[in-house]
Amino acid sequence: TSLQDLNTFGIAASADVLVRLRSSQAVQDFAASSLLRSPQGALRPTLVLGGGSNLVLSGDVVHAIVLKMEIPGIALVGETPTQRIVQAGAGVRWHDLVAWTLAQGWGGLENLALIPGTVGAAPVQNIGAYGVELQDRFHSLDAVDLHTGQAFTLDAAQCAFGYRDSVFKHTAAQPGDFGLAGRAVITQVRLALPKAWRPELGYLELQRRVEASGNPAPDARQIFEWVCAIRRAKLPDPAVLGNAGSFFKNPAVTEDQCRDIIAREPKIVHYPMPDGSVKLAAGWLIDACGWKGKSLGRAGVYEQQALVLVNRGTRSSSVTGGEVMTLAAAIQTSVYERFGIRLEPEPVVV
Ligand code: EPU
Repeated sequence: TSLQDLNTFGIAASADVLVRLRSSQAVQDFAASSLLRSPQGALRPTLVLGGGSNLVLSGDVVHAIVLKMEIPGIALVGETPTQRIVQAGAGVRWHDLVAWTLAQGWGGLENLALIPGTVGAAPVQNIGAYGVELQDRFHSLDAVDLHTGQAFTLDAAQCAFGYRDSVFKHTAAQPGDFGLAGRAVITQVRLALPKAWRPELGYLELQRRVEASGNPAPDARQIFEWVCAIRRAKLPDPAVLGNAGSFFKNPAVTEDQCRDIIAREPKIVHYPMPDGSVKLAAGWLIDACGWKGKSLGRAGVYEQQALVLVNRGTRSSSVTGGEVMTLAAAIQTSVYERFGIRLEPEPVVV
């Protein structure tokens, strides 16, 4: 089965087996099926696929059973005096959920508009944009454990959210480790939307929009429109130019390290974090190394945002995962040689 249309990079890798899952029960049935187990009873490797928008298929063949999540449905499932609890199936497109909540008149997700991918993938990397992360609006989720076939529920603490990180990105290498990668399949996600909505306008580009509009009290709809406009101007539409969003995480350094770097590179873009560390803009570092707009083979660095790697191939001659990883490694080397900083990939590399 070709995965070319199932990953937004448009990499033409293939998989031996693809299973489409349309309900939580279907996931449990799959966990109990002989497809998942070798004759010796060992679990075969699986790859859970949502929108395929935060994924780099680095080889030509995926040696795993690909689980394409297609669980539908959005509903209000609970209410407290201060919050509305909205539940969505793992296969719902994230942006459709954002648009649905705003159509009900419920703010809270507007800063996360237009993020590609599905609801089920959102907790895996704790999606975030323009000053809001999924964890800020997260209530709980349901998942199925492929080892046991049991359904279970996790709250925010159990998801162990971090910057572009969660328990779903880690494997439990030793007893006592907490990791659910390769094991948990998220089926439903619940979000808590505040009834006393307040705008989140801390991000510089949103502040600029507020000033330009002359409206100091924009509503959630207005912020939604601004976020969509900012993203459209800066980030390539995967339907037009294959990509997986930011290719690297913004690296965190200590205050001391940051002071050293600023002494050498006065213009470096940096943000102090609540925990005392300082986050550096990876896009700026890559840009400063001269990579913006450059290509290696069919893998390119986007002209408007150096943090995004793109597919410069065509459908019949698309970029390969190998080309993408070669470009990524060359960028990592440049940034390390100039700044002494190691960039880490942000998408899941398979
Ligand atoms: N910059 C440059 N050159 C570039 C790119 C960026 O100088 O080529 C500078 C910008 O001028 C700006 C700073 O770097 O001062 C930060 O850039 P930007 O505002 O575009 O945000 P980012 O830090 O590059 C992060 C997220 C995005 C998210 C935006 C908005 C990560 C890895 N990326 O990007 O998330 O949309 O902030 O909140 O944290 C994603 O995860 O896939 C993603 C797109």
